[in-house]
Amino acid sequence: MMEKIRAQEVYGIINKHNKSKEQILSILLEIQEASGRNYVPEECAQIVAQELGLSLSKVYDVLTFYAMFSLKPRGKYILEICKSAPCHVNGSKNVRDMFEKELGISIGETTEDNMFTLQYSSCFGACDIAPAVKIGGKVYGNLNEQKVKEIVDLYRKEGQ
Ligand code: FES
Repeated sequence: MMEKIRAQEVYGIINKHNKSKEQILSILLEIQEASGRNYVPEECAQIVAQELGLSLSKVYDVLTFYAMFSLKPRGKYILEICKSAPCHVNGSKNVRDMFEKELGISIGETTEDNMFTLQYSSCFGACDIAPAVKIGGKVYGNLNEQKVKEIVDLYRKEGQ
């Protein structure tokens, strides 16, 4: 069951966007961010549908169409490993293995402390520094074992 404060926050976000259907992406992104677990809870999707005058299935269409959304709780930091061609030929598979080893999870999973979720991404324009990974808005490239360790350490410290 969703906390009362969470529902109020959801209404606040929707109202800020004037209950505009055109702004559904921004609304859902803000809700996802405010969830603290990088996902859009079902209760929130229901409120969005109701307030925007859309069917719940329409809201779910949007949530499932865009890879940036999740319906399941994720970690505080989403580690997106690019698997498009330039990163792939430069060893994105090795990078995945390194992150899996460092975090003790497989791709698609979330660490037990809810700090990291490891997932694939398509090209985000950092092909010149392939293989690359994106965390939040930040991009890290030319990855090797040392850099992977440093990145994980950095975010572990930041997330505390
Ligand atoms: S192919 Fe990986 S960032 Fe472009």
